[in-house]
Amino acid sequence: MYPLQLTVNGTDHDVVVDPRRTLLDLVRETLHLKGPKKGCDHGQCGACTMIVNGRRTNSCLSLALSHAGDKVTTVEGLANGGAMHPLQQAFIEQDAFQCGFCTSGQLCSAMALIDELKEEIPSAVTGEGP
Ligand code: FES
Repeated sequence: MYPLQLTVNGTDHDVVVDPRRTLLDLVRETLHLKGPKKGCDHGQCGACTMIVNGRRTNSCLSLALSHAGDKVTTVEGLANGGAMHPLQQAFIEQDAFQCGFCTSGQLCSAMALIDELKEEIPSAVTGEGP
């Protein structure tokens, strides 16, 4: 077991973790944030997506110990107090939930994608460069 410090949704955490534990399991089972879901557990579905230091991360494939000092945002961290983030509101207004299981991952992925586009970071949806 190893000590780990990281920040999740603006709250600092000091935990002790098994080196085999994933970020997803740490967040769900130790920090009791149940928004991120374990779907495939193989990096294919995105239900577990969190924002780590501003980047989309499949937390089921990422070992918790590799996130020392990182800033992690889960779906629980998107809202501002009791007010939903505009993207969450848009999901409601556009009936974008489907079954709802992976919605938290879709929201985190979309949030990070929008920030990546603002920073002009190339991605699969980026057009031709200048
Ligand atoms: Fe499916 Fe992580 S649970 S990508």
